[in-house]
Parts: sequence; C-alpha cells; structure tokens
Amino acid sequence: MAGTFSGARADEPLRPIANMFDPLSKPAEMIHDASIITLIICAIIFLIVTGMLVYVTVKYRSRGEIDERKEPPQIYGSSQIELAWTVIPIIITVVLILITTRTIGEIQDHPVPKDAVHIRVIGHQWWWEIHYQKPGAKPDEWVTDFTIANEIHVPVNKHTEITLESADVLHSFWVAQLNGKTDLIPGLKNHTWIEPRATGVFFGNCAEYCGTQHANMQLKVVVQTQADYDAWVLAQKTPPPAPTTAEAIAGKKVFYANSCVNCHKVDGTPAAGVFGPDLTHLATRLTIGAGIAKNNEDSLRTWMHDPATLKPGVLMPNMQLTDKEVDEVVAYLMTLK
Ligand code: CUA
Repeated sequence: MAGTFSGARADEPLRPIANMFDPLSKPAEMIHDASIITLIICAIIFLIVTGMLVYVTVKYRSRGEIDERKEPPQIYGSSQIELAWTVIPIIITVVLILITTRTIGEIQDHPVPKDAVHIRVIGHQWWWEIHYQKPGAKPDEWVTDFTIANEIHVPVNKHTEITLESADVLHSFWVAQLNGKTDLIPGLKNHTWIEPRATGVFFGNCAEYCGTQHANMQLKVVVQTQADYDAWVLAQKTPPPAPTTAEAIAGKKVFYANSCVNCHKVDGTPAAGVFGPDLTHLATRLTIGAGIAKNNEDSLRTWMHDPATLKPGVLMPNMQLTDKEVDEVVAYLMTLK
C-alpha cells in the first residue's frame, strides 16, 4: 500500500534500545558531544581522587605494633591545599556551565529552514496526539493538514520543527537518538526540533512522570526517504476505504452504535471525537495503545475486550462488547488503512 514505510514491520522490536550514545540527529549529536566532554572531565576527577585515596591508604597504613596510648601526629589545615580544593572545583564547574549553556544556546537558536516540516505534539494521559501543519501555512497561524497518534513520520536529512503542548499534566518528549528531553507543559508552547540523518524507526518515551501508564507512553519516530514520506503524507490525507467484507461492515455498525465515536476520529465518517487517538489509518501503525503491543488482530482483540488488561489505568473504558462484536470491530479496524 502506498505510504506504508519500507521498514521491517513484523520484526520491529516493541521496545528497541534507545541509545543516547549513538545519536543520529542534530540536537542529539550536540548533546552527545557536550556529554562526552563532561564525562571525560568527571572521569579524570574520579581517577585523581580515587588514586590519591588509594595512595594515602596504602602509604600511611599501620605497620607493625600499634601503641594504643600514643595518638598519631595530628595535622590541622593547610591554607594552600584548602585554597586549591576550593579554586579548582570552581574552575571545573565554570567550564561545565560554559559547555552546557553553549550547547543549549546552539540548539535553541538554531534557525528553522523554509522547507522544514512543522508538527504539533500534544501530550495526553497516556498517548501522543500529532498534528501536521498544512504546507505553506505561516508558522504562527497553525492550520492542521492531518492528525495521527503515537507515530511520527519525518523525511530524512530535513529539519522537523516540533511544537509541544499538553492536554492535561506535565509530559516530556524524548527520542534519545534524535533529541534531548523537552517538557510538554499545560498552557505553554515549547519547541524542539530534529534533523535525522538515517532512515529507520526510532523509539521515544515520555520522560516526565505523568501517572500510572507513564512508562507506557511510548512514541515511534519513523524516518523515511523524501519519496516514502511524501507517499505516506498522501495516504494519511486520503480517507480509508469503506469496509467490504460482511464482518467488517457489521463491525463498522457496532463502532458507530457505541460511544467509540465520542472519543475517536475516523476521517470520511461521522466519527470526530478528539479525546482519544485518531483512528483514521490505525491499521498502518506499528503499535497500539501508545506502544503497549504490536498492532495485529490478536492484540486489537485483547484491547477491545478490555483495554485495561493490556494497559491498567487506561482512560478508555471496557465497552462490554460480546466476542462476536469484538471480532467484527477488529475486522473493521483492520480496514482503516
Ligand atoms: Cu506522559 Cu509521562
């Protein structure tokens, strides 16, 4: 199908290793470089202090008989040493501050190129709402082109500007190999950006405790070639085909007869809810429940029986569907491509 990304879908691990020491995008690389310098300075300090400690312990250890009546010589203070261990740490701290503020400044002041992709990420308990801006719209006049959930697609070697907002509590956007952590704060707009230089699926996770399912507020960033990305955008903007099998048609009826439509949106249908993830192209996504399980019929069936079995505390209620209705709804959801 046009627009599905060309990565290995079936063997994609659910929680791949997100290694910040293997950065593949500009802000992450800048943070990595600053971290390595900091780590080297700290390692040198650690080695000097530990070395001195070992030296003193060995050199001045007790040898032979201890005369308990006699105290060892007591030495009180040395101005030179006290001055040294005050001044040297101050210099080291200032160097670390300069390295950190320079990196933060370079990341924040990075210009946004004209051809940048603009997206808006809204944090919810416990999933990510993602809006893509209409190309050509002014950056300060947001016009949504299409929305998705829990999976961001971006073109490789291109700047993607990300505005971060929250619908409820504090969250934090972090894709270790692509950028540093940036908080999503209710009532505020924060910004971050990525410029990935390799295609693939990158794992992200909420990095600010936001309730029961904080650890399962996961995100996938799919970095694609420009052609694959363009095809994906086109597919996202096309409403899904109408279901054709009897089971899927019945499932669509069940979906619209229940309160699913109050929370979920499916483009091209009356379902226009905004409290839950947009389901327009659900069947093309890698995972369900913000990364809790691979997106397949089995996990969808478990989810539809009772979402809390997969994700305790989830805000979606158990819809009390019969086994037959669950099968039908799952058949319908699988048509949302
Ligand atoms: Cu959202 Cu932690």
